[in-house]
Amino acid sequence: MMKIFFRVSVALNLLLFAFAGCAPEKKKRNDLDGKALLESKCASCHNLDIPPETYPEEKAPPMMAVAFHIYDFIEVDTPAEKIPASIAFVKDYVFSPSYEKSFCDKKSLEDYGLMPSQKGKLSEAELDAVAIYMFEHYNRENFLRVMKERQILRDMDPGERVARKYGCTSCHGVTQKKMGPALRAIAKRYKDDEKQIKRSILSGTKDRWEEANHARMPAFKTLNDEELDSVTSWILEQK
Ligand code: HEC
Ligand code: HEC
Repeated sequence: MMKIFFRVSVALNLLLFAFAGCAPEKKKRNDLDGKALLESKCASCHNLDIPPETYPEEKAPPMMAVAFHIYDFIEVDTPAEKIPASIAFVKDYVFSPSYEKSFCDKKSLEDYGLMPSQKGKLSEAELDAVAIYMFEHYNRENFLRVMKERQILRDMDPGERVARKYGCTSCHGVTQKKMGPALRAIAKRYKDDEKQIKRSILSGTKDRWEEANHARMPAFKTLNDEELDSVTSWILEQK
C-alpha cells in the first residue's frame, strides 16, 4: 500500500492547484471532537502527521495517505459526492473491514494485515465525527499549507528561525514594539555591542527600556552558541 500511496502523493503534488477550492465544507453533525477521537482511537496504529511520518515497522498506513487514497479511488458520479462517499466508506470500513473492500493492493494488505474491526472501541457517533474530521483535515489545502510553511522555514534566515523557535517574535516586532522593544531599536542601540545583546538574552533584563514599562525580558538559558550567534546577527541586521 505504501508504494501506491507514494505514487498517489506525487500525483497529488501535480494536482494540488487543480483541486484548490475543493476542500470539504465544514460540517459538524454532533458535538464530538473528531480530532481528539482520531488521536485517541486511531493513532496507536496510524501516523497522523501532515505530511506523514513513515516507519519501516509501521502497523498501518499513515492517515493522510489513507484519506487521500480513499478520496482518489472512491467511485462516484459527481465531484460533490466524493467527500460524503469517502466518509461513508470510512464509517463502514472501520467497523467491518475486509480484504474485498480494502483499497489497498494485495501486497500491502499482506504486509500490514487486515485492520482489526474497531467495533466496540468507539461508538457510531464517535466514528462519524472521526470520519468527518478526516476529510476536513487531510485535504489538499492543508497539505499545501503545511508544505508552504516548511518551505518558508527552510528559506528563512537561521537567526529568524531561532527567534521563531523561542517565541522572541511574540514580544518583539521587527519595527514595532510589543511587550519588548522593536528589534530595530535594539539593533541601533547595540550596533557596537553585540556582547550586551547576548548577555541579555542569556540572563534576561529589566528596566533598560523605558517603553517596556518595567516588563521583564525572561532569560533564555537554553540557547546553544550557534543559536545565540545567529539570532544576535539577525537582530543586528534589522537596523
Ligand atoms: C490496531 C491497529 C489499527 C487501529 C487502532 C486502527 N487501524 Fe485503520 N488500519 C489498520 C491497518 C493495518 C490498515 C491497512 C490494512 C487494511 O486496509 O485493512 C488500516 C487501514 C485503514 C483504512 C483504509 C482502508 C483502505 O481501503 O485503504 C481506514 C479507512 C482506516 N484504517 C481507518 C481507521 C480509523 C478511522 C481508525 C480509528 C478509529 C483506525 N483505522 C484504527 C490498523 C489499524
Ligand atoms: C515575554 C516577552 C519576551 C520574550 C519572549 C523575549 N523578550 Fe526580549 N525583551 C522583552 C522585554 C520586556 C525587554 C525589555 C527589558 C528591559 O527593559 O530591560 C526585552 C529586551 C530584549 C533585548 C534588549 C536587552 C538589553 O540589554 O537592552 C534583547 C536583545 C532581546 N530582548 C532579545 C530577545 C530574544 C533574542 C528573544 C528570544 C530568544 C527575546 N528577546 C524574547 C520581552 C521579551
